[in-house]
Amino acid sequence: MDAARQRDMLDPVAASLRMAGIARPDAVPFSFNGIAVQAPAGESLAAALIAAGMRGLGAGPGAPRAALCMMGTCQQCLVRVDGRLAQACLTRVRPGLEVTAA
Ligand code: FES
Repeated sequence: MDAARQRDMLDPVAASLRMAGIARPDAVPFSFNGIAVQAPAGESLAAALIAAGMRGLGAGPGAPRAALCMMGTCQQCLVRVDGRLAQACLTRVRPGLEVTAA
């Protein structure tokens, strides 16, 4: 099952859990390794990439690296954002980000 279909299946559940009057920001475009991706502005870049089905963030010893702790501790989510190294879990999605594997 692809990530978009999984996300569609979870939308009704997520909607029932949201607080009244709280809405997610509109999705904005950015790219990962040249592939167009959309995610709500301000969402964690790591979470946005996982939701888009892009879990491999770079080469690791024997296996691709993927976000692990999601709180800035493990460094497994290092990527290049507009040419600079950044932790994807601590970076917020903004329109036009150019993200590449590090
Ligand atoms: S996932 Fe661990 S530092 Fe980002």
